[in-house]
Amino acid sequence: MAVGTGNIRCLECYCQVLLIMKTIVANLKEQDDYNKIIEEAGRIIREGGLVAFPTETVYGLGGDGLNPDASRKIYAAKGRPSDNPLILHICDLSQLNDLAIIDDDRVGKLADKFWPGPLTMVLNKKAIVPESTTGGLKTVAIRMPSNQVALDLIKAAGLPIAAPSANISGRPSPTNGKRVCEDLDGKIEMILDAGSVDIGLESSIVDLTGSTPVILRPGAITKEMIEEVLGSTEVDLAVKDPSSVKAGYKPKAPGMKYRHYAPKAELKMFRGKPEAVANKINELSSEDERKGLKVGIIASAESKDLYKYGDVVVIGSKNNDAEIAKNLYEILRGFDDKRVDRIYSEVFEDGKLAKAIMNRFSKASANNIFDIR
Ligand code: TXA
Ligand code: MG
Repeated sequence: MAVGTGNIRCLECYCQVLLIMKTIVANLKEQDDYNKIIEEAGRIIREGGLVAFPTETVYGLGGDGLNPDASRKIYAAKGRPSDNPLILHICDLSQLNDLAIIDDDRVGKLADKFWPGPLTMVLNKKAIVPESTTGGLKTVAIRMPSNQVALDLIKAAGLPIAAPSANISGRPSPTNGKRVCEDLDGKIEMILDAGSVDIGLESSIVDLTGSTPVILRPGAITKEMIEEVLGSTEVDLAVKDPSSVKAGYKPKAPGMKYRHYAPKAELKMFRGKPEAVANKINELSSEDERKGLKVGIIASAESKDLYKYGDVVVIGSKNNDAEIAKNLYEILRGFDDKRVDRIYSEVFEDGKLAKAIMNRFSKASANNIFDIR
């Protein structure tokens, strides 16, 4: 059955409504017919349908990257603005030349070092890539994921798979199959559930269309790691200074302009000595609870005992950025489930993943990060 808009129209605004469909949820951990499932998923994608699948970063919502109808279905299923371009996922370097114009050796150097893995490169696109996939841009974002299910699926489909994160637009990205089902069950043909992902934050994006590489979204492949391969690399102003977006700066990755990765409750973060931060959060959460509000607190393992009110959730040890990255979205979604009204958090600024972690936190909190003395 094809996903998409039917001839049914909503009575209120006369928009076309998305047809509800039966989604096949394949639990890959429990299945011995792995190959059969992957074949079936590949066939669905080849025929224009949508399949959600795990990658090492977050789950993706995949469709045929060269088929404008498939990208339209992706935008519809996510409720995503159509000017926000999709990343094409490949499983073999030989696919790259068909999709993008490669006129220098930087792409090869980065691919050698970081692919398969959590790095996306923005390149000038070839005509075969439809503008419906690239949000009208003449450039295309491409990555080769390292997750085996993702690689097998792309191979089985036999084409580049366009895949944004498999969440409803604006919600935190899903890091396990259960969260994908929450957002997309009934809207797409198939969900491949392989449990929890490894990294928990989306890929780093580097724009190679200019003479200096520019990081458009920080991830597990850091600026320093890219500089080791390519030399001097810049960071887009939207990432360096998140307040620039409020002031009117247009991020080079269109998706970075949205209040993304956001829980339903208002999130505020506090930077300072652990005791001072805890005092401030205790003061605010005690006031909130007096007003009958439900409070969630995101704490490090080291500081958790300093909090006196609210539902305190430990994101990980301050010394373990990988653990913090992996738990971040799941904690935000958990607070949505518990319907908290306010979330207060410490900042997490240590380790290799700190830039990526704080970039997502800054978006989730609409950059509400306060220094406490
Ligand atoms: O880790 C990831 O990258 C995950 C997994 C599924 O691969 N995908 C992901 O896709 O995060 P999405 O659609 O949620 O985020 C893609 C980001 C958006 O901010 C989008 O604006 C940007 O990439 N992007 C895509 N194509 C672009 C282009 N041609 N130029 C600039 N930015 C682009
Ligand atoms: Mg996303």
